[in-house]
Amino acid sequence: MKNTLIAPSILAADFANLQKEINMVNKSEADLFHIDIMDGVFVPNISFGMPVLEAIKKHAKKSLDVHLMIVDPDRYISSFKKLGADVLTVHYEACTHLHRTIQAIKAEGMKAGVALNPHTPVALLEDIIKDIDLVCIMSVNPGFGGQSFIEHTYDKVAQLKEMIRRNKANTLIEIDGGVTNKNAKQLAEAGADILVAGSYVFSAKDSIATIADLKAITK
Ligand code: DX5
Ligand code: ZN
Repeated sequence: MKNTLIAPSILAADFANLQKEINMVNKSEADLFHIDIMDGVFVPNISFGMPVLEAIKKHAKKSLDVHLMIVDPDRYISSFKKLGADVLTVHYEACTHLHRTIQAIKAEGMKAGVALNPHTPVALLEDIIKDIDLVCIMSVNPGFGGQSFIEHTYDKVAQLKEMIRRNKANTLIEIDGGVTNKNAKQLAEAGADILVAGSYVFSAKDSIATIADLKAITK
């Protein structure tokens, strides 16, 4: 089958030992670092901001997949480019002029991602799917790690896969929230290209082995 990418979510890392956690991801079979930026307005939580991202960038040896859970993300697109983001994902629900925002992210040389909250239908992306490098389907309500996976996600992956095919787009499908060894295989089979996993990876006794296991079961 295909190579499903695994993106450990740093939100679940031990921030007092961040360098150690980053080195663990560097050494593992993980493909990307998933970085959750929350502003306390778009979501009811504040995670971390620019200085922490700068510190992560210093040690990370893999691409940075930055997930902005903030209102009006256009204000910070060039800042996140300077901080080293490779993929910059904004929320559909946070953008009034989504097409313009996507163009601005690409103009900075980053891949443009759009995240959908669980209540947001995939069909709303039909007219711009060809412009989007990555769609992040939220499989929990954004704001916190460690929540349980919403089962309706499988239907959304199938719908999105079909939309991508119909439009001859090259968009990647990412799943974010509640990913474990219980749902990873089914998600990969439904068409997911990238699986984000936070608490499942970082709360494991052996995070490197857990990442290897996720890679193996989604091959
Ligand atoms: C949720 C974040 C997720 C979260 C995933 O708002 O966007 O990336 O860190 O964490 P788990 O895998 O613990 O659900
Ligand atoms: Zn995320």
